[in-house]
Amino acid sequence: MRIDFAGRAAVVTGAGGGIGRAVALGLAALGAGVLAVDLSEAGGRETEKQGRAAGQDIVFQRADVTREADVAAYVGEATRRWGTIDIFMNNAGWQGPIAPISSYSLEDFERVMAINVGGVFLGLKHVLPVMTANGRGAVVNTASLGSHVATRNLGPYTASKHAVLGLTKTAALEVARKGVRVNAVCPGPVATAMLDEIEAAQAGGDAAELRRRRTASIPDGRYAAPEEVADLMIYLASDHARHITGQGIHINGGSHAI
Ligand SMILES: NC(=O)c1ccc[n+]([C@@H]2O[C@H](COP(=O)([O-])OP(=O)(O)OC[C@H]3O[C@@H](n4cnc5c(N)ncnc54)[C@H](O)[C@@H]3O)[C@@H](O)[C@H]2O)c1
Repeated sequence: MRIDFAGRAAVVTGAGGGIGRAVALGLAALGAGVLAVDLSEAGGRETEKQGRAAGQDIVFQRADVTREADVAAYVGEATRRWGTIDIFMNNAGWQGPIAPISSYSLEDFERVMAINVGGVFLGLKHVLPVMTANGRGAVVNTASLGSHVATRNLGPYTASKHAVLGLTKTAALEVARKGVRVNAVCPGPVATAMLDEIEAAQAGGDAAELRRRRTASIPDGRYAAPEEVADLMIYLASDHARHITGQGIHINGGSHAI
């Protein structure tokens, strides 16, 4: 199986670190032009720098995915540069504070939902018309194992990731006859800055011990590397996945295998 994205244009949100950076660099390495979108100037510039150093066609665009004007601007920038968007990795996310629902502020709840659900919604709203006009395209939303399984003190995040699957399935039905596929990936723990922050807050001290126990509970005994999740996203965006749409695909080392 070979994947060649030469002549294809991709947009990746949350490309300033973790899974987003891995998938942005992975797509660009396969020949795609990549717009690397992130709120973090430092993170986005670093992704751009790494790609450029490898001779890739990758450009950073600063955007807050919760702001519709920013979303319209990144879609406009990609279409101006490459004429269309073939691949969209709708990936930016935030875990929010780690706290029980009874002490969660409405403001924090709304910020988690605005990024994880509103950002995914706005991305779909603005990218899907570009793809359907072209009769071709693939979207991968980053959902989570938390789209299926609850974790104490992560209520808003868990609710938001359940919602990402709802948007994924609905969008897939709406564009299935128009040459466009929409899927989601549902990773278990992935070794990124986000997981470091979650575990530091959950442990309230010894995160190393928490990580040891948690990795021991995963059937294959480890967390995913961001590049492993990126590989699945790239497969789903490729023509090899042409009959796959409306799905949330698990990648978690066997957790919750039934
Ligand atoms: N790390 C895990 O264990 C794990 C597991 C399942 C799902 N996920 C999901 O994977 C995705 C990527 O997370 P990650 O683990 O790579 O974390 P990360 O923190 O390394 O990356 C998230 C990126 O999103 C960006 N971002 C946050 N808010 C934004 C906004 N409003 N506008 C634009 N960019 C914004 C951040 O600046 C950051 O670069 C998220 O949707 C996350 O929920 C992560």
